[in-house]
Amino acid sequence: MKPTSSPKTYRVKSFGCQMNVYDGERMAEMLGEQGILPAPEGEEADLVVLNTCHIREKAAEKVYSDIGRLTKAGRKVGKEPLIAVAGCVAQAEGEEIMKRSPAVSMVVGPQAYHRLPEMLGRAVKGERSTDTDMPAIAKFAALPERRRTNPASFLTVQEGCDKFCTYCVVPYTRGAEISRPYSDLVTEAKKLVDAGAKEITLLGQNVSAWSGEDERGHKVGLAGLIRDLARIDGLARIRYTTSHPADMDDDLIAAHGEIEKLMPFLHLPVQAGSDRVLRAMNRSHTAESYLRLLERFRTARPDLALSGDFIVGFPGETDAEFEETLALVGEVKYAQAFSFKYSPRPGTPAATMDGQVAKEVMDERLQRLQTALNRDQLAFNEASLGRTCEVLVERNGKLAGQWLGKSPWLQSVWFEGDAVIGDLVRAELVEAGPNSLAGKLRETVTA
Ligand code: 5AD
Ligand code: SF4
Repeated sequence: MKPTSSPKTYRVKSFGCQMNVYDGERMAEMLGEQGILPAPEGEEADLVVLNTCHIREKAAEKVYSDIGRLTKAGRKVGKEPLIAVAGCVAQAEGEEIMKRSPAVSMVVGPQAYHRLPEMLGRAVKGERSTDTDMPAIAKFAALPERRRTNPASFLTVQEGCDKFCTYCVVPYTRGAEISRPYSDLVTEAKKLVDAGAKEITLLGQNVSAWSGEDERGHKVGLAGLIRDLARIDGLARIRYTTSHPADMDDDLIAAHGEIEKLMPFLHLPVQAGSDRVLRAMNRSHTAESYLRLLERFRTARPDLALSGDFIVGFPGETDAEFEETLALVGEVKYAQAFSFKYSPRPGTPAATMDGQVAKEVMDERLQRLQTALNRDQLAFNEASLGRTCEVLVERNGKLAGQWLGKSPWLQSVWFEGDAVIGDLVRAELVEAGPNSLAGKLRETVTA
């Protein structure tokens, strides 16, 4: 590659999960520390970071076509951008990306992106580099302090996964489960609040497996961490995601009834309603044990909103087994959910299982499932009408004078009136749609 001048502007494009959004923010902060500015909206950036996701289909193909588009656009303005591929596709494909895409100068995995500035130094000299090391949590110590944030911020507390669900690439791309130390998390949470965060969502691929030691040397789990973070003045809301049913302990269930700042929302993927399919997925719970667990959460916090993830068309899934998923959905009545067609991930056990399900069958199942989930989501939103609740204002709405924020149950609520981003207001929910609610501003709680 030819040497080039140091980039003046950057753009980080994050795909996939919230952990990637968090990583994308930290990469942006790091580039900011190097004196590189975010590229203005609509302008080509000198440096583009594609922060990729590998969890479902065609992730790699999407990356290659994005790279193609970037080089073409660059040629038009007479300067091709420096391109870094980060995230889980970088981890999974590594050198392959370098071979296939001469326009890429940096390939950096999710555990190595703290080394991006060094790699950038080499890229400017025309050298290409790949770093897909997994030095556990070295990354966090090497990142700059948090200085900017959104009213609703993410904080990665745990990374990696040891569960090895048979369809999932995460244990391979993100590595083994590690918990960030308690004191680092408390410090980072305080920094986020100082920078304006009112809500923090604790993130981890298997967040409920987080464990650590508090400052007195006592062992604490996620509930203990939440309890201590709730003491931070100025922090109004705490959420966490994503959990695995096997790691939900009594303390966490109790926390939902006791800690006011812990929002009444639980994202607890079930994936399927058939015990045979769950076994083949290596999920370690049954439909029944999942339902019983939810009951305990609902007893602790009766207004808890539930969310889940589903996969249709896992290898060998029969029509009757799929019906069991619909039956489970009918019982739980999710407030929201994510549902996907099974997609074979190279290197995972399910990818080579017998009984791969035809695309048309998956399409039909997904449609039926989503119809049921949408019906329940609308019903949940309609049942909220008449409630007056706190809404954290996160952004401007579509029209002038409109604001958009989240209810405690993670519903999108828009309203009109006197507010600014970051306000916590009280609004009465007056109109319900499938994806959002309209509110009437009653009062501002914090300015
Ligand atoms: N195919 C389809 N969906 C998947 N997920 C993970 N791996 C796959 C796959 N191979 C879904 C699961 C998980 C969510 C983050 O993505 O539902 O909970
Ligand atoms: Fe993947 Fe299963 Fe781990 Fe979730 S719990 S990240 S689905 S292996």
